[in-house]
Amino acid sequence: MSDLFVELTAPNGRKYKQPRGLFINNEFVASKSGETITSINPSDESEIASVYAAGPEDVDVAVAAARKAFKDPSWRDMDATTRGDLLFKLASLIEEHRETLATIETWDNGKPYSVSLSDDLGEVIGTIKYYAGWADKVHGQVIGGTSVMKLAYTIREPVGVCAQIIPWNFPLAMAAWKLGPALATGNTVVMKAAEQTPLSILYLGNLIKEAGFPPGVVNLLNGEGRKAGAALAQHLDVDKIAFTGSTATGKEIMKMAAVNMKNITLETGGKSPLVVFDDCDLDQAVKWSHIGIMYNQGQVCTATSRILVQEGIYDKFVEAFKEHVSKTSVVGDPFKEDTFQGPQVTKAQFERVLSYIESGKSEGAKLVAGGEAYKDVGGKGFFISPTIFIDVKDNMKIYREEVFGPFVAISSFKTEDEAIERANDTTYGLGAALFTQDITKAHRVARLIEAGMVWINSSNDSDIRVPFGGVKQSGIGRELGEAGLEAYTNKKSIHVNLGTKL
Ligand code: NAI
Ligand code: MG
Repeated sequence: MSDLFVELTAPNGRKYKQPRGLFINNEFVASKSGETITSINPSDESEIASVYAAGPEDVDVAVAAARKAFKDPSWRDMDATTRGDLLFKLASLIEEHRETLATIETWDNGKPYSVSLSDDLGEVIGTIKYYAGWADKVHGQVIGGTSVMKLAYTIREPVGVCAQIIPWNFPLAMAAWKLGPALATGNTVVMKAAEQTPLSILYLGNLIKEAGFPPGVVNLLNGEGRKAGAALAQHLDVDKIAFTGSTATGKEIMKMAAVNMKNITLETGGKSPLVVFDDCDLDQAVKWSHIGIMYNQGQVCTATSRILVQEGIYDKFVEAFKEHVSKTSVVGDPFKEDTFQGPQVTKAQFERVLSYIESGKSEGAKLVAGGEAYKDVGGKGFFISPTIFIDVKDNMKIYREEVFGPFVAISSFKTEDEAIERANDTTYGLGAALFTQDITKAHRVARLIEAGMVWINSSNDSDIRVPFGGVKQSGIGRELGEAGLEAYTNKKSIHVNLGTKL
């Protein structure tokens, strides 16, 4: 076997063949420079495998492949239903390889295997199927009523060569959110996975080829953000860039994308509020508050990381929440069945969360749970005890900045107006949740909160059929749902002169 594949045995005993190359033109190839990145198991800090890392020359090759495929009649003129069939085929191949993909995701990222298998892979298969169904239902419009001398209509065209830069918190799911709508509408793709989690995306390359996508339609690169990512964002032959990650990097990408005025969609950070009114169903509020911040080790862009509780039930909520977290947030080996929380994805993220714990303490917030590294999983790994700060003040760093860990800041409020004002007192605007039994208040507050998504009596209850995205510095554009197709099509207007008179 060449060095482009390596036989691996995962901690759960699963054996599989891991691709190591860059996936370009339906083949795995080495990087021009020979540079590699090494993937680490965050549960025990061991090395899993090294994979080739793309530099600017590799990005050029991948973009050229995507450009050629975009113009090739085998893809450009493919019947839309056939394009949908390819996506359906891909979804069924992912289903066939579900356990292997879930194993790789857990090994590389640290999320519990039960979650990878049911939630992440469920999301991937569901999203690809959802957009497969859309492939032959994306129509233009006839615009009647202009004049009898004129026929005007629109056609929906693919944007072109799309660069897609994805993060490490949901590698396969973020790939699916971006590949689904891009391919359904006839674009070609150069995707760059996050350097922290390169493995599952490469395995997907096998399945894309097997599904029958023509060479060059999907190209998958690993590589560092500042090298491969920046080369994509600056590339003159890339038409669109879709990005999920931090707000700071999103701003950099916007600047770089200006070089040829790329179409952009950005899904960035958040500090999403969860507002608990005193007329709520307390058990429900506690249950969802826990999921809203502790799910996926707290590494969720929409995590409801600021909990605002009305003063009448503040103490009761804090007690019930603490108890619920201590019972349900079982920290442990992500391959163990009862584990709710695995390690943070990398040492850097682990240290980042610890530094916010120090900040919370030094600024005078009250620590009522966690607040330290969790050492009981073989003494290694990037585990953090679920951390709860209460009585957090609005000017504290832990109230204002995205922490991205199992870390929550709780504070109290008096009135509805105060809750809305403080919920909105942030540069972000991704998600927001609110708990009340008063239907009128629920809808009134939902309208006044500055966020792309509001959950009434739940949190982070995302759905592939419903648009996802942010306002303010949480992003531009929408993914998922029918809205997700808008991001990957341009409308061309065609004016037909039906007469000879001016
Ligand atoms: P990041 O935003 O730097 O990385 C995300 C992706 O962007 C990766 O694929 C990376 O290689 C790429 N990238 C980085 N710099 C780039 C550049 N200059 N040009 C083009 N691409 C570039 O996020 P990072 O450093 O991994 O995490 C830092 C913080 O970002 C986290 O603590 C969290 O707060 C936030 N974050 C938010 C995510 C979300 O889902 N919205 C996902 C990941 C991180
Ligand atoms: Mg890793």
